[in-house]
Amino acid sequence: MKKNVILFSQIPQDQQARLAQTFNLTMLNRQSDPNSDAFKQALANADGIIGASMSMRIDDDFLAQTPKLRAASTISVGFDNYDLAALKKHGVRLMNTPTVLTEGTADLIFTLLMATARRTVELSNLIHAGKWTKGITPEHFGIDIHGKTIGFLGMGRIAKALVKRAHCGFDMNVLYYNRSAHSDVEQKYNAKRLELDDVLQQADFVVVILPLTAETTHLITQQKLALMKPSAILINGARGKVIDQQALTQALQNNVIRAAGLDVFEVEPLPMDSPLLKLDNVLLSPHVGSATVETRYAMAKCAVDNMIAALQDDKPTENWVN
Ligand code: DGY
Repeated sequence: MKKNVILFSQIPQDQQARLAQTFNLTMLNRQSDPNSDAFKQALANADGIIGASMSMRIDDDFLAQTPKLRAASTISVGFDNYDLAALKKHGVRLMNTPTVLTEGTADLIFTLLMATARRTVELSNLIHAGKWTKGITPEHFGIDIHGKTIGFLGMGRIAKALVKRAHCGFDMNVLYYNRSAHSDVEQKYNAKRLELDDVLQQADFVVVILPLTAETTHLITQQKLALMKPSAILINGARGKVIDQQALTQALQNNVIRAAGLDVFEVEPLPMDSPLLKLDNVLLSPHVGSATVETRYAMAKCAVDNMIAALQDDKPTENWVN
């Protein structure tokens, strides 16, 4: 008998068709009423869920409504909206899409870094506003990227893809802070592992690229920001909550650091009354690290493969999280 699977997000037609061929597929989206009988029934019957959005918490309360659930497939590398202890208690396997988005996300983070350093969006806006009437003066100058020191907080797959770009493409010195040492980047790219405070003090660019956990929540506080060089730029491509956003806003307002490039925020979408929107020295992107045609397709396919392997073939995959 076919298993019941709920799909919570929009994925390419051919991947949706694979799910529909293999399972009894129910589609639920942001417009679906979680209090409706149809929604509750779908949860009650579900053997698998795929593509739950970051704003859905898959915790004890959610899992109490899904007594048959055995597999959850997230279309992301991050899984901080899943409560691993609750999944264990309810016997639910979680799978993610860790490898297919590495290079695309590294591209976006490096784009943010470059655009923040060279003030690309601000200067483009200046032209659009008809303000390019004479030569650009020093108050609009950016800063160099090549040859500078870049410090990574975290050294996972995406960080490594960034190290390669920074070292090979831009001749940058690489520092990193991470629980464990990574001899591959140390040998290949001369990366140096330091304590957090040392990375913050020495880097011209600090790139946050570690998972959100209890330990990394608000890792970057007002005190930590104060350690950074006033000329430094902070880039966050991980999760908003790794940085105390209020402290960062104040640091940007008071020029404690030069600028920030942010793809992630404590609350997403970023509320329209966020004081960050009033600042020129912050470049914002709407959590789009993996948002390219190719990468999002590969992520959807990987998540469907994961679900078929878990529920249909009963096979382990390399993408098991728990
Ligand atoms: C990820 O895959 O974790 C991205 O940040 C999208 O949520």
